[in-house]
Amino acid sequence: MKNVVLIGFMGTGKTVVGRRLARILRREFVDTDAEIERVTGKSVRQIFAEDGETRFRSEENILCEKLARRENLVIATGGGIVLNPENVAYLKEGGILIGLRADPEVILRRVGRRGNRPLLRGGNKRERIEGLLRERAGAYDVAELTLDTGVGSPDRAARAIIEYLRERGYF
Ligand code: S3P
Repeated sequence: MKNVVLIGFMGTGKTVVGRRLARILRREFVDTDAEIERVTGKSVRQIFAEDGETRFRSEENILCEKLARRENLVIATGGGIVLNPENVAYLKEGGILIGLRADPEVILRRVGRRGNRPLLRGGNKRERIEGLLRERAGAYDVAELTLDTGVGSPDRAARAIIEYLRERGYF
């Protein structure tokens, strides 16, 4: 069975919904940020600070290529992964892309004051979020289904995804 790949901006619930989905479907869960941290032995924040964003994007690309050869996974991706068209091609090769979205104020509430997202550090967080959302307009449209996670629980989002996959005959 193909991988189910969750894409979307930071704070849209990819990890939470992904875990829920994996549990319900009894599939292995992979979070690309966590996998990169495991492989490099560094936190995402450390990679950005010590090696730069380019290194992080390169790790994402290597991982996407590996994941294209796997199946039966639920994958939660980092919010910037789809900015590289090659990554999108790899993820599509092995999986079905499902998008998650939320309004800027919901995203702001979720990412909160935690400093673990290097791209949101410094300056006004809401402005950073809105700026990045503008820059990335259209980048998440590669998903074949997009759900708003600003309403309802992660469980409901997971069940809506399963219903969609069933309707389309994915399983
Ligand atoms: C990023 C999103 C983060 C993480 C990194 C860069 C982005 O993942 O990969 O900080 O470019 O949007 P989440 O979407 O899981 O926060």
